[in-house]
Amino acid sequence: MSGKLIVFEGCEGGGKTTQIHLLKEWLNQKGISVTTTKEPGGTPLGQKLRHLILAPKQELITASVELLLYAADRAAHVEQVLRKELSAGKIVLCDRYVDSTVAYQGYGRGLDLNLISQLNQIATGGLQADLTFWLDVDVEVGLSRKRLNRDRLEQEDIAFHRRVHFGYAHIFAQDNKSHIRIDANNHPETVHKEIQKILLLKLQQWGYKQI
Ligand code: TMP
Repeated sequence: MSGKLIVFEGCEGGGKTTQIHLLKEWLNQKGISVTTTKEPGGTPLGQKLRHLILAPKQELITASVELLLYAADRAAHVEQVLRKELSAGKIVLCDRYVDSTVAYQGYGRGLDLNLISQLNQIATGGLQADLTFWLDVDVEVGLSRKRLNRDRLEQEDIAFHRRVHFGYAHIFAQDNKSHIRIDANNHPETVHKEIQKILLLKLQQWGYKQI
């Protein structure tokens, strides 16, 4: 069986890291082997790019430079990590993927959505997520969870973060089969239970017998 790519998306402070951790533990308990990874920063090159992109007082990064750096990170990540793990049959839990670029650089920065779509195609070589969860948290609530040590993107004004949120709402309204919205304002355990419920069905559909 080839693996499955499960992506977690959303605005700042939605609890992706916590949910990925909880889900990994739960799947491991069921004897399912899981790889966790993230964008930006899922490869050695990506770690360097992540540092460059997110360093707080970085003035040389324009919107189009930012877009291309995220695309470079993604191309390396798909080639070096995602394809390898998926062809080894792993379930891959990935913190952010193509929808982040649409939401942040497209809706947030106002860059051309067609161009972003083409760039995502180049970076991924057409590799699509099997399932994407949007951990939907109110923008103010999410940002208040990230009050200390904000990175360059987190330091953007509230209007930027609202545009990103609007972008996610738009992306997830287009497809409700492989794109699932989860209310992330709830307690992390409640959010985890909801994700479990959805994933149980998906895993059965995908032929995982031990579930
Ligand atoms: P993280 O802190 O959730 O790991 O995400 C890093 C930041 O990078 C976050 O503010 C979202 C942003 N980002 C983009 O703007 N575009 C992208 O394509 C990706 C992957 C992340």
